[in-house]
Amino acid sequence: MVIQEDRSLKDKDQSLVSPQNIDEADAFENSLRPKDFNNYIGQSEVKNNLKIFCQASKKRGESLDHTLFYGPPGLGKTTLSLILAQEMGAQLRITSGPALEKPGDLAAILTSLKENDFLFIDEIHRLRHTVEEVLYTAMEDFAIDLVVGKGPTARTMRLKIPRFTLVGATTKASMLAGPLRDRFGHVERLRFYTPPEIQEILERSAHILDITLKKDAAQKLSYCARKTPRVANRLLRRMRDFAEILHEGTITTEVITNGLENLSIDERGLDHSDQLFLRTMCEKFNGGPVGLSTIAASMGEEENTVEDMIEPFLLQEGFLKKTARGRVVTDQAFDHLNIPYTRQHKQL
Ligand code: ADE
Repeated sequence: MVIQEDRSLKDKDQSLVSPQNIDEADAFENSLRPKDFNNYIGQSEVKNNLKIFCQASKKRGESLDHTLFYGPPGLGKTTLSLILAQEMGAQLRITSGPALEKPGDLAAILTSLKENDFLFIDEIHRLRHTVEEVLYTAMEDFAIDLVVGKGPTARTMRLKIPRFTLVGATTKASMLAGPLRDRFGHVERLRFYTPPEIQEILERSAHILDITLKKDAAQKLSYCARKTPRVANRLLRRMRDFAEILHEGTITTEVITNGLENLSIDERGLDHSDQLFLRTMCEKFNGGPVGLSTIAASMGEEENTVEDMIEPFLLQEGFLKKTARGRVVTDQAFDHLNIPYTRQHKQL
């Protein structure tokens, strides 16, 4: 069973392929989450490791070691946490770094946990330092230090808390403080999915949602989902809309072609924000190098959104490189956008 402490903070993730309504989006995403390892597609190395860690912990009758998942958004960090908790027969509490404003917020959650419960902290790199310090003793000693009284008579009292498993999720492992990172027994990186894996996820989701999705259509769509299950499932939902209104319900390759065109998503899966990023880099900055703040300001976007939501996929696809002097787009970006090559000094 899951107790949701606060809404998962995915509201930044509002690209063209995201739904308009966050609650509706969460409900949709939750309905498609696999509930066990057998139904979880992709990330095979991570999955195999986690299965073994779960079995070993259960055999010893211990709780699972604290686990950190890192990687770009939408790749399954929350889903894997849910699976881990259910595999260990435990309850999962969900919160996020920004939701824990003061040490007392975290202390309240920790003291209400039961033995072997899981606590999931999304965006753990955004924890305030004062809150993070509470987590250190909680993770290591299963205790929290409370300050009782005020002024010269104040003293610290150690309160034991149940043994629990912390699952942290972050898009930016490099931003975690060393002492926090070191307290995780397992650190797992989630990778982008291959098109065949995305196709399998699309077919599974279509089956759950009772959508008729032709095989060749699923294959076509699998190349346009930014290698990300969350994007794939959102696209599937949009394609269902086009199919229901314009094509009698069945998602065919024709529906996909028309639908993607209507959503301004190109054949490599780049959406409006990706295209704007590359276009700005090519047209305004001759391909770079450009600093993050400059490119974000030119696009009218927040730096975090550019860094966390847009750049990882463009880096992975070879459209972009990060250099010591700033961001530089590759020749592939100019070619893809059909922009004459204007870089004045070849950087790459
Ligand atoms: N839905 C979202 N992510 C999934 C995954 N990795 N496997 C199966 N279904 C999913």
